[in-house]
Amino acid sequence: MTLRGKPPGQYGVDAPYVPILSALAAVVCGVLAVVLGPGWLFPAVIFGAQVVIYLHTTLRGKFAAWDGVLDELAEPGTVLDVGCGRGMVAIKAASRFDAAKVTGVDLWRSRDQSGNDPAVSAKNAADAGVGDRVEFVTGDMTELPLPDDAFDLVTANVSIQNVKDRELRRQTIEEILRVGRPGAEIAIVDMQYTKQYEDDLRALGAEGVSRRTLGPSGWFGGPWAASPARAGPRPAGSGVAVDRQPHRSADGGGDALIVGGVAVADMDRGGLLDHAHEGQ
Ligand SMILES: C[S@@+](CC[C@H](N)C(=O)[O-])C[C@H]1O[C@@H](n2cnc3c(N)ncnc32)[C@H](O)[C@@H]1O
Repeated sequence: MTLRGKPPGQYGVDAPYVPILSALAAVVCGVLAVVLGPGWLFPAVIFGAQVVIYLHTTLRGKFAAWDGVLDELAEPGTVLDVGCGRGMVAIKAASRFDAAKVTGVDLWRSRDQSGNDPAVSAKNAADAGVGDRVEFVTGDMTELPLPDDAFDLVTANVSIQNVKDRELRRQTIEEILRVGRPGAEIAIVDMQYTKQYEDDLRALGAEGVSRRTLGPSGWFGGPWAASPARAGPRPAGSGVAVDRQPHRSADGGGDALIVGGVAVADMDRGGLLDHAHEGQ
């Protein structure tokens, strides 16, 4: 049975220091507004709004956003969720694709997600009724401890961006392509570096790479922190991507956000597996 929205379980807060710092900033600006004048009210409201929107995204919005991403994907037999944390995407994928075997890999860093622990993820999977088809593995996404060509679908939600070194992020994309079967689909949601992933995927031969905004469900703090998503088959896929979005550079440094509206990725999945080992 597909569990839409937030599955049963405890999923914590992503990067918990972010809403804490924003809340502190809101309080400081509020105090300054009282002491120095109403000019400080505007930043106080912005920081306060950021806390509310961030908590909405991490506690509810990201679950709804991934319902939409999973809706677009072909039924996989095997799924890998990279940087799975407490298991949100892994568990939703297992619930959606009821014959799929799902693996989540993570280093369980609590600064990236509160209460991050494989025992918590396993309990969440059991609470959602998919514990028999989801396993959690400890490993670094830059050097995945997993075999080649093992997965039909590889996902990552707000995890690759935690790898701060540019070359290691490229290596992570290489690893995702390595462990994905020819014709596998890849779905990545992140707040930063998405133009790099797109370039890396294309440079490494992935076809059908597309990118779009997740809309308000993917705002981590506001529209300036939207989560672009990307899905594409690995080399030899016959997908065709159509990006109908206007987009702008987020910081002039190569990251791109696709802002507003709806974008559509047309993927000719029918041909993907037919061409399974072409071009290898
Ligand atoms: C913001 S959390 C998101 C967790 C999960 N994807 C979700 O949406 O709930 C980022 C996750 O990436 C993991 N992570 C960070 N660097 C990693 C690495 N090099 N290898 C594996 N996991 C990593 C963290 O431990 C954390 O669980």
